[in-house]
Amino acid sequence: MSSFLSLLLVAAAASDGSSIQLILVNNCAESIWPGLLGSAGHPTPQSGGFHLGPGDESAFDVPVGWSGRVWPRRGCSFNNSSGHGSCATGDCGGVLHCGGRPGATPATAVEMTLGTTRSPLHFYDVSLVDGFNAPVSMSPVGGGAGCGVAGCHADLNVCCPSKLEVRDGDGKVSGCRSACRAMGGDRYCCTGDYASPERCRPTVFAHVFKAVCPKAYSYAYDDATSLNRCKASRYLITFCPPPTSRN
Ligand SMILES: *[C@@H]1O[C@H](CO)[C@@H](O)[C@H](O)[C@H]1NC(C)=O
Ligand SMILES: *[C@@H]1O[C@H](CO)[C@@H](O)[C@H](O)[C@H]1NC(C)=O
Repeated sequence: MSSFLSLLLVAAAASDGSSIQLILVNNCAESIWPGLLGSAGHPTPQSGGFHLGPGDESAFDVPVGWSGRVWPRRGCSFNNSSGHGSCATGDCGGVLHCGGRPGATPATAVEMTLGTTRSPLHFYDVSLVDGFNAPVSMSPVGGGAGCGVAGCHADLNVCCPSKLEVRDGDGKVSGCRSACRAMGGDRYCCTGDYASPERCRPTVFAHVFKAVCPKAYSYAYDDATSLNRCKASRYLITFCPPPTSRN
């Protein structure tokens, strides 16, 4: 099929009002293997994962009302015929197609709920609550009032507090854990006595995350400015978005 024709088909699929198009773009210098997972009761698109080479993009539809997450997997190696292998970060049980399996932490998460029975608005955010492994952003194509950019545009691996670092076999920092994941405890995880926005205040670690990535959730009760509300028919999810860009 010509790329022009496939572009037309993609555009037609996105305009029927019952689905929303997600366009995943890899702006990193290396391959990314996006992982996808539907929330309870929601399907997992694209078998839950695929390979995205540097500079590549992939567009697909999810139904209106879809809720779920997308995260980057890095440093993967899979057997091309069996789909078995592993990823240095974000691995979902050693398979290319996550098919309902969550990813390992630390991993940056793009979370979205694209309309509910109570509201047609789409909610989306980029979360560091499960840590960080690659810069990611999400923004609407077009959009309007309230349609902001969610994202962690900076490479948190290069300024990760040493207590939170995860290093690969070569000693390079490949991920930055959240304080909750690294140290546990109610204070860092906003659980038990700290299970409310009033009691669970940002820690020194959350302040570091917020300073580096102001448009991402740094901890469970981060302020509402990290959550975007919008209604668009297409969204762009970019791995390694240009640091200075507004999308
Ligand atoms: C598997 O496929 C990828 C992407 O097409 C390719 O780069 C890689 O060399 C292949 N691996 C093997 C073992 O064939
Ligand atoms: C890849 O998977 C195929 C099919 O399961 C298997 O026959 C082959 O031995 C595997 N290759 C490697 C290098 O593990």
